[in-house]
Amino acid sequence: MIAFSVASETRCLKHAYAMKARLRIAVHLIVLLLLAVATTQARNQDDNELEVVLDDNAGKETEQYPTEATSEASTERVNKMRLVNIMSLQEYCEIKQGKALCKGFHFDDPEELGFFDLATQVRIASDGATYELGAKQPLSTLIMENSTFVNFPLHLFYELPLLSELDMRHCRMQHVSWECFVAADKLKIMLISDNAITELEERVFTYASGLEFLFLNNNQLNRLHADAFKGLRQLRHLDLSGNQLEELPEGLFADLRMLHHLTIADNRLRFISSEMLAQNERLQTVILQGNQLRQLGEYAFSSAPQLLALDVSHNEPLEVLVLNLNAGHLLACNCSLHRVNIFGAVTNVDLGDNRVQELYFSASEALEDLVLRNNSLVQLATLSQVPRLRRLNVANNPKLRELPSEWETPQLERLDLSNTGLEQLPHAVLRGMPQLRKLNVSVNNISEINPQDFQYLSQLTHFFIQANNWNCYNLKMVMDMLILEHGITYVPDRVDAEFPGSYINGIACMYRLPEREQLQVESISDDLSLASSVSSSSASMEYREPSEVEKLRKEFKSVVQHMESKFDSVYAQLNNLNAKMRSLEQINSTLWSQMTITV
Ligand SMILES: *[C@@H]1O[C@H](CO)[C@@H](O)[C@H](O)[C@H]1NC(C)=O
Ligand SMILES: *[C@@H]1O[C@H](CO)[C@@H](O)[C@H](O)[C@H]1NC(C)=O
Ligand SMILES: *[C@@H]1O[C@H](CO)[C@@H](O)[C@H](O)[C@H]1NC(C)=O
Ligand SMILES: *[C@@H]1O[C@H](CO)[C@@H](O)[C@H](O)[C@H]1NC(C)=O
Ligand SMILES: *[C@@H]1O[C@H](CO)[C@@H](O)[C@H](O)[C@H]1NC(C)=O
Ligand SMILES: *[C@@H]1O[C@H](CO)[C@@H](O)[C@H](O)[C@H]1NC(C)=O
Repeated sequence: MIAFSVASETRCLKHAYAMKARLRIAVHLIVLLLLAVATTQARNQDDNELEVVLDDNAGKETEQYPTEATSEASTERVNKMRLVNIMSLQEYCEIKQGKALCKGFHFDDPEELGFFDLATQVRIASDGATYELGAKQPLSTLIMENSTFVNFPLHLFYELPLLSELDMRHCRMQHVSWECFVAADKLKIMLISDNAITELEERVFTYASGLEFLFLNNNQLNRLHADAFKGLRQLRHLDLSGNQLEELPEGLFADLRMLHHLTIADNRLRFISSEMLAQNERLQTVILQGNQLRQLGEYAFSSAPQLLALDVSHNEPLEVLVLNLNAGHLLACNCSLHRVNIFGAVTNVDLGDNRVQELYFSASEALEDLVLRNNSLVQLATLSQVPRLRRLNVANNPKLRELPSEWETPQLERLDLSNTGLEQLPHAVLRGMPQLRKLNVSVNNISEINPQDFQYLSQLTHFFIQANNWNCYNLKMVMDMLILEHGITYVPDRVDAEFPGSYINGIACMYRLPEREQLQVESISDDLSLASSVSSSSASMEYREPSEVEKLRKEFKSVVQHMESKFDSVYAQLNNLNAKMRSLEQINSTLWSQMTITV
């Protein structure tokens, strides 16, 4: 244990704490002495020194306490303040079943420090003649609303030793220091988010060693001491998002062996080293989105075997992602990634809105859901083995043009290939997707497909084919044999009055003869040559007898327009339904997000 040689101030200490013969265990005694130093020094500034001597045999115990340097620094700050006693909760708080909801405490002077010194309740006993002392407030939850504590109050946990939940959000708090947490050993949940705390000193939460949930989000933290979280061996959830952190000192999280969820979103972090989270083997989620990350250590997340989610989205400077990672979800959208190499098994991956050209998954067989939307991919070779893939979105990769040949995707249910420069849908690709339900090939350059190839897709319910370069002859077959025949849902093209071609069931197309016959083609009508420049496929647009084609086209057009008007009303109803669903989903998701905020 720790021994103190207390010199001439014993008298003062006695005086200060004579009223409180309530010391229960040795640790509290020590802590109280330290506190007393703070308070008494503030009151009588003499030169006598209180010497704190740490016993050599103190062993592990001493590790728990702030070092002399820190205690001096914070003690000095505390010394300069004026203590203002808070003697009663009744006046400000509504107390019910162990829970206090307090309003209107105002300590907005930085020189002022709230000091909890709650009066012991005295009641007349049932015999009517004697008095009895009420027990301490058995409060387990304390919520401060519409209150200001520029400095976190002192002696709070000493007076309310059973406090397990403290909510001091929006208190304009600027400073917390280790003295404030004396006797906070029952504290499990602390919310001090939405304040103005700028830094955390060494071992500031040492006495709150039972903390499991710590919310420090939306403060102005720009500096954390490497030992700021020392001693928080039970901490499961740490939220540091919405601060101004640029770097994390090495070893910051070393003591947090129980950490499950770490959120440092929306800061200015530039780098996460391979060692930073090496001790946090229980991590399940790590949220680093909205920082300035340039680099992530290859092994930064490799110590956590049960990682459920890693989110590094919205880190604009991040160009390369090479990670050793096993995770349920990897989110890395909206960065500047051009190379992504993942060594390990990941199940759900979103790399949307990057510039990915080089992509490699060492264990592509683990993939179930992969979003590669809006990138610069030219091939998908790494996905040749994807037995579990259920959803793949490669929309907006205009240079892709081809899919892996002989592709085996037995579980694939949704495939979005829109705007991928596609000109055809090869038989060999379709054959490997027996479970496909939704296929989007819109915004491509497909002119023909063979409806027969779709016999393998017995589950298909949605087929989005708009904004292509359809040949009307082929499109008619696709409609009759596939889409209309099987009641498959599709989305019509937006009707453009200037479009020189036709619309079949709402899909734009051009009449083109099969290639063999085109050899005989000679003359070109003005009308159709215009069409050819739009579709940029001149050779196939030429006919010997344009007037005949013209007639045919008009005929089709009238039929199609009739169909369209019917379709439009159905489509409007569908849209309506969709909007309703979306609003339902939104309610749901806001509900969920609120639930997490109030944990
Ligand atoms: C907050 O406290 C101030 C001052 O005590 C008071 O004027 C104001 O009405 C309070 N606001 C709420 C929302 O309680
Ligand atoms: C990426 O950023 C752009 C522009 O800020 C935004 O429009 C888009 O929605 C973002 N994508 C995602 C997936 O957040
Ligand atoms: C594609 O991603 C870039 C970022 O790489 C983004 O700025 C752009 O808005 C995205 N485009 C679309 C259509 O989502
Ligand atoms: C199909 O792709 C187009 C173009 O990217 C997109 O606008 C549309 O929303 C997609 N449809 C579905 C149902 O995903
Ligand atoms: C579309 O495909 C045709 C061949 O079918 C080709 O001549 C044309 O250049 C392609 N257009 C684009 C924009 O890729
Ligand atoms: C609401 O969310 C829950 C849980 O995520 C989900 O099971 C449920 O289907 C959702 N309901 C709707 C209407 O989206």
